[in-house]
Amino acid sequence: MLEAIKNRRSIRTYIDEEVEEEKIFEILKSAMQAPSSKNSSPWEFVVIDDKEILSNLSKTHHKSKHIKDAKLCIAITGNKERFLKPGKWIHDLGACTQNILLECTNQGLASCWVGVHPKRKVMDKVRETLNLPKNLIPYSLVAIGYSDEENKFIDKFDENKIHKNRFE
Ligand SMILES: Cc1cc2nc3c(=O)[nH]c(=O)nc-3n(C[C@H](O)[C@H](O)[C@H](O)COP(=O)(O)O)c2cc1C
Repeated sequence: MLEAIKNRRSIRTYIDEEVEEEKIFEILKSAMQAPSSKNSSPWEFVVIDDKEILSNLSKTHHKSKHIKDAKLCIAITGNKERFLKPGKWIHDLGACTQNILLECTNQGLASCWVGVHPKRKVMDKVRETLNLPKNLIPYSLVAIGYSDEENKFIDKFDENKIHKNRFE
């Protein structure tokens, strides 16, 4: 198993240490390397490091509180103008968000996916907080920072979820 896959966990506590610009750049490069339907690359990112905006984003819903303590947060949004096939953008942005999480782990950073799409109220709150233009649909938020929390490997493998050829 790839080290980054093995070591990635959702970490929600962060220490007061700056994240290097080069690491943020690497994370965004990995994000844009994700597969997408028809290679449409329908993503656009908002990198947030402003304390007040982070605090506002942390009030998005009951499971977004940890964003307030993160050094930065990346909002992953879909650009409607690049949605080439109905519904596919959701999968594209899922792959993209996962790439971000894995690159964070690879860079020694803690991260946690915060769900946004498809809850209308949550999407509206993110849109308003980030002043998103109409063509950008908020999909997810990823809180990022250094952490002193240990990310223990939990083996999630379950043989019962594997099926061979076809169900009889
Ligand atoms: C679509 C999606 C939405 C999620 N939303 C949240 C969220 O809003 N807040 C949060 O703290 N964690 C969120 N998570 C993280 C999950 O809670 C976490 O991945 C899961 O508990 C498994 O733990 P692990 O990531 O450490 O393996 C989300 C994960 C996914 C894939």
